Amino acid sequence: MAKEVISLQEVKNFETRAEEFFPIHWYKEMFSSHPVYFHEGTNTWHVFKYEDVKQVLTNHDIFSVEGDRSAIPVGANNKEGTLPDNANIMVDPPVHKKRRSLLSAAFTPRSLKNWEPRIQRIAKELVDDIQVNSTVDIVQALAAPLPGMVIAELFGVPIKDRTQFKHWVDILFQPYEKGKEDEIEVRKQEAAKEYFQYLFPIVVEKRKNLSEDVISDLIKAEVDGEKFTDDEIVRVSMFLLGAGIETTSHALANTFYSLLYDDESLYEELRKDIELVPDAVEEMLRYRFQISKRDRTVKQDNDLLGPELKKGDVVVAWMSAANMDEEMFDHPFTLNIHRSNNKKHLTFGKGQHFCLGAPLARLEIRVALEAFLQKFSRIEPIESFDLENNLTASAPGQSLMHLPMKVYQ
Ligand code: HEM
Repeated sequence: MAKEVISLQEVKNFETRAEEFFPIHWYKEMFSSHPVYFHEGTNTWHVFKYEDVKQVLTNHDIFSVEGDRSAIPVGANNKEGTLPDNANIMVDPPVHKKRRSLLSAAFTPRSLKNWEPRIQRIAKELVDDIQVNSTVDIVQALAAPLPGMVIAELFGVPIKDRTQFKHWVDILFQPYEKGKEDEIEVRKQEAAKEYFQYLFPIVVEKRKNLSEDVISDLIKAEVDGEKFTDDEIVRVSMFLLGAGIETTSHALANTFYSLLYDDESLYEELRKDIELVPDAVEEMLRYRFQISKRDRTVKQDNDLLGPELKKGDVVVAWMSAANMDEEMFDHPFTLNIHRSNNKKHLTFGKGQHFCLGAPLARLEIRVALEAFLQKFSRIEPIESFDLENNLTASAPGQSLMHLPMKVYQ
């Protein structure tokens, strides 16, 4: 059944896009005045502190992923756009464990090892296309295309279809703008149908000729005698597109933004010691990934967060805010790739629903950054860059649409 969509824009009506892109003033206000906040307009609770967010994400006896309302709508409301029941991973334990195991077949350490050279090739291809001593829009040249190209490669579908992939994803995960809900829903349903018609014959073909890709791994996956059908694989793959493309693009774009505007000396430091890249990636995920938030529905009355919460209440856990909690991170509002605990960020969630694609996302960001660092000795911001006019709204928040910068050999 389709979930009712909760508009987070109503919870905090940011005055500018830039403020929403990096909402630390609001977090500071919420930490000090309303760490557990009830918003009447949307009838939802909100938590920001690290321990509260962790509690909401991990205590599945009390906070359920199954509910009638959600702040993060996924897919479309037709048959093609929804996950089949037996593949819907957004369920609570114990059912969740089996469904996650089926999906995990496509995300083994062996797969990851096998993917690295393929991702390196794609990253190098994109970086090679960037001219030295020029101005490049790094979002359009690298951050936006890379994750879609990687998924197309890992799914084993023709690389020529990658732009089409991104197009479907953009529609399927477009936010429901107020007043335009019906129109957007129609477009989503069309995109879901087109995607389904595109991928179904590819899955049927792959079943006859299995190879080294995610679709083949999903075909082979078996838990307690249960396997995915072709129809289920197409719909599961659509969920993976949604989970993996926009998020990784956002992380990569913001990494470059951070290198340009948060710490100008960092680029050179990473060039001198490329081994620091994984730590830099973690810190970027903590500091610059400001769209991580998830909702849960209260299963039984409780006061675990302080106030009385009733069965059926919706709680939104703001992971990006938790990443700025000074009870967890020293000087949280400063970027520091050397902090010892930056891997403790909650950007990928926590507990049983911890992001299955986290190792892939980390790999993509690392490999892309390494390829870039190896080619360019220096980067510089563009003086005329205006953040406000280069942001665009996506379902979970504001993302960079363009990020021009100068690159030197
Ligand atoms: C920077 C990139 C990414 C971020 C920040 C991210 C974030 C998240 C978060 C926060 C969750 C937890 C949801 C919850 O608790 O309700 C999640 C779950 C998930 N993610 Fe990611 N994700 C990223 C990339 C990917 C990629 C590349 C894939 C795969 C292609 C992926 C696949 C999944 C799946 C399958 C789940 C559901 C796991 C479950 O419910 O057991 N994600 N992700």
